[in-house]
Amino acid sequence: MSDPRHHGRRALVTGGSTGIGKAAVQRLAADGAAVVVNYIGPSGPADQLASEIADHGGTAVALEADVSNEQQVQQMFAQAADQLGGPIDLLVNNAGVEHPYELVDMPLEEWNRVISINLTGPYLCSRETARALRQANKPGTIVNVSSVHEHIPWRMFSHYCASKGGMKMFTETIAYELAPHGIRVLSVAPGAILTPINQNLIDDPKQRAAVESEIPIGRLGQPEEIASAISWLASGEAAYVTGTTLFVDGGMTLYPKFV
Ligand code: NAI
Ligand code: BGC
Repeated sequence: MSDPRHHGRRALVTGGSTGIGKAAVQRLAADGAAVVVNYIGPSGPADQLASEIADHGGTAVALEADVSNEQQVQQMFAQAADQLGGPIDLLVNNAGVEHPYELVDMPLEEWNRVISINLTGPYLCSRETARALRQANKPGTIVNVSSVHEHIPWRMFSHYCASKGGMKMFTETIAYELAPHGIRVLSVAPGAILTPINQNLIDDPKQRAAVESEIPIGRLGQPEEIASAISWLASGEAAYVTGTTLFVDGGMTLYPKFV
């Protein structure tokens, strides 16, 4: 354990077996938290991650739940509290999906799928976290993984942008509500990061170069660079930070093509 800043905390990372979520699980475990790796689908990668953390002296359990399903979310939080010995006090709402559609072609099912996973999921998980912490009269932190697209419009992704724009106001509003109860709520807004969600981009050198030309730092980000921001925001060093978004985007939101 290089840095025990989260020692004694109980974390849950949604979509925690891949990409940014996996890096967040690894970082929070290295920082001393006991971590729930939430996943959906085959259990292999989440189980493997949990056992790697155990091999390094940490504590992690893999729990399956569809974050958009109220019953599954409630069951997951009950299991987490049972298995870790108390309520989750560090929630990372990371699970998210995207798929391009022009508005005129977008099926309602696809709109609902993206909003349900990217926005309703964080609502359900935040509600469970806040209910348990308030009942136990304990402090905690909720970190939402938003996107530069809570701010930058993105053609073909109106559902995704609506979900992340909605997440911005959700973060701000519940931060206001929960501050008197010692619960801070933040968003981290990544730019373009090297994860499975960007596999098509990673596999296409021309498209990748075009995106990199829009990033002042000149490269895609690493998932660990988002995980370190999550860890800091959830730590006591950020005790006076709540209700805001930290952009970790290599400068993408500076609009390099503006002039
Ligand atoms: P990813 O595709 O590896 O991660 C998404 C995770 O969410 C996967 O583990 C997936 O299984 C899980 N998931 C999907 N539906 C779920 C459900 N119903 N219930 C529980 N889990 C579910 O991609 P990445 O990049 O790690 O994405 C993580 C978050 O980061 C997403 O919210 C995404 O919008 C956000 N993000 C990613 C950026 C990037 O460039 N990679 C940039 C900005 C934001
Ligand atoms: C998306 C990525 C995209 C990045 C920058 C993220 O929200 O998930 O696919 O590369 O924004 O546009």
